[in-house]
Amino acid sequence: MKTLKVPLKEAEKAKQQFKDSFDRKYTATKDEQFIYFPLLKAVKSKYAICNKRLKNREKETTESYWAKHLTKKELRQLKKAYDLVGTIAIIEIPAALLQKEKTIAKAMLLHRNIKTVLKKGSAHEGVFRAQKMKYLAGIKTTEALHKENKTRISVDVEKVYFSVRLAEERKRIAQLVQPGESILVMFSGCGVYPAVLARNTNAKEIIGVEINPEGHAYGLKNIKLNRLRNVTLYCGDAKTATPQKTFDRIIMPLPKTAETFLDVALARAKEGTAIHLYQFEKEENFAKAAENIKSICRKQGWTANILHIQKVGQQSPRVYRICIDMTLTKHS
Ligand SMILES: C[S@@+](CC[C@H](N)C(=O)[O-])C[C@H]1O[C@@H](n2cnc3c(N)ncnc32)[C@H](O)[C@@H]1O
Repeated sequence: MKTLKVPLKEAEKAKQQFKDSFDRKYTATKDEQFIYFPLLKAVKSKYAICNKRLKNREKETTESYWAKHLTKKELRQLKKAYDLVGTIAIIEIPAALLQKEKTIAKAMLLHRNIKTVLKKGSAHEGVFRAQKMKYLAGIKTTEALHKENKTRISVDVEKVYFSVRLAEERKRIAQLVQPGESILVMFSGCGVYPAVLARNTNAKEIIGVEINPEGHAYGLKNIKLNRLRNVTLYCGDAKTATPQKTFDRIIMPLPKTAETFLDVALARAKEGTAIHLYQFEKEENFAKAAENIKSICRKQGWTANILHIQKVGQQSPRVYRICIDMTLTKHS
């Protein structure tokens, strides 16, 4: 590229005189006698113009922005992991960095696929398991359009429970489904399980039940968005709003209290029905949890054949989200 070759001792003077003609995409380089400024256009000057290869100026990145604005200690405290729901990044800010939260978030907008940065404002709480969010940077919204397992999921990340971290688990369940199955998703949220199962299996029908009216509304929107023909969603308490029919597979993604809904599931079961029941458990309690489920089923006339206990991520350092996979056999 064309460069202006300036003796080192005149570098500052030449810089002031010609800076508007410099190409800012490249960095100037020096040898023992001269500095070579990248030129955007030809200039009239007493200095020589010569061809030279110059390095591209480093593009600012999230990491370089953080490095510039945070101290070494702050960088060590920073939690760099985040969840990306559509173009919304959801981060956690350690207490020690609260003063710098906007700066930390602004840096994340340098990622091409992040348009909004929110921080978790609470744990998942209440019956709806929703999570408060605090806006930090970018476009001010809590509504995302997320792609997962060949579906598009519209969801408000503050009003409705949704976890991108469960995508693999939803795929795992989809891979277990046989053609023609009738499936019940007892706590369907924004309809992500029903949508993933409808898109990725040959199930006959999928029914979802959700108590949060906003979750249900997103569920209906997601049926349309993905043009699903075999999904029906009901809004209400799974105890009373679950249709009175039997299913081949029942999914119970409510880890805190799923087992208290087993009576409803068992009343919709038939010989061989598969159940996927989610729980939070410490590893040393996995076997006890399975025994507890078997005992509840036994009291209601069913044998629960535990097929597998799947770890589906961690809730806290020693507590796992697990899925207990089982099939049911009626007592004779
Ligand atoms: C952990 S979230 C899972 C949501 C969804 N299946 C998903 O994976 O994104 C549990 C959901 O159960 C719903 N829920 C809680 N109690 C319920 C009940 N008694 N009947 C129906 N839905 C309920 C909550 O509103 C919440 O959307």
